[in-house]
Amino acid sequence: MDAKQAAACKAVEYVRDGMIVGLGTGSTAYWAIQYLGEKVKQGLQVTAVATSAETESIALQCGISIVELDAVDHIDIDIDGADEIDGQMNLVKGGGGALLREKIVAAASREFIVIAGSNKKVSLLGKFPLPVEVIPFGWKHTAGQLAVLGCDTSIRKKGDEIRVTDNGNYIVDCHFGSIAEPAVLEQKINSIAGVVENGLFVNMATRVILGHEDGTVQVIS
Ligand code: 5RP
Repeated sequence: MDAKQAAACKAVEYVRDGMIVGLGTGSTAYWAIQYLGEKVKQGLQVTAVATSAETESIALQCGISIVELDAVDHIDIDIDGADEIDGQMNLVKGGGGALLREKIVAAASREFIVIAGSNKKVSLLGKFPLPVEVIPFGWKHTAGQLAVLGCDTSIRKKGDEIRVTDNGNYIVDCHFGSIAEPAVLEQKINSIAGVVENGLFVNMATRVILGHEDGTVQVIS
C-alpha cells in the first residue's frame, strides 16, 4: 500500500452505514472510491455525490450509487484530495480541474476529510499554481485581472486545445510562488468579473489524513 492508498483507506473507515458521501476527484480520491466500493460489495449502504464526471464513472463501476447534489439536503462525509495543505488545513485544489464542484460539495458537507501523500504538506501555499475557473467569454481579460494580483498566468490545456471543465468553463493557473494570506486572496480572486471560483479552500477541511510511503498515516484534525 503506497502513501495515497494508505490515506484513502483510512478515510473510508469514517464512513458508516446509511451515510451520504461526497467523492472527490484525482488519483488519491480514486483509491477512496475503490475502498468504498469494496465495502459496498460487502453490504455497506451509502449514497454518493460525485465531484466530476470522471469520478461518477469510476464510482458506478465500483457499484456505488450516485445521486445529484440537489437530491440530498446535506453530505455526511466528503473525501477528497489536495495539491497543497498548509499547517492550518487550508488547501490548494483543482490540479484535476474539478475545483468548482469539489468546493460546492465540500461546502455542503458536515465533515470534509482531505487525503494526500505527506509530500503535499507545505508551510506556505502557492508553489503549486492556483487553479481558477473562469467563464470562457473574455477569459484573456479575466486572466489579465488575475495577473494584477501578482501572479503569472497560464491557460489550462489538454493537448493543443484549451481544457474545458465539466461546467463548460476554462481554468487559468495562477503562479503566485507563495500565498501569505489565503483567505484574503480567495476573496479578492472571486471578486473579479469572469471568475467562477478558485482553488483556495480556506477553513473548510475538518480532518487531514497524510499517507506515508511505508503505509502508515498521520491524522490531523
Ligand atoms: C482535482 C483535485 C485533486 O484533489 C488534486 O488535484 C489532487 O489530486 P491527486 O490526488 O491526483 O494528487 O483538486 O481537482
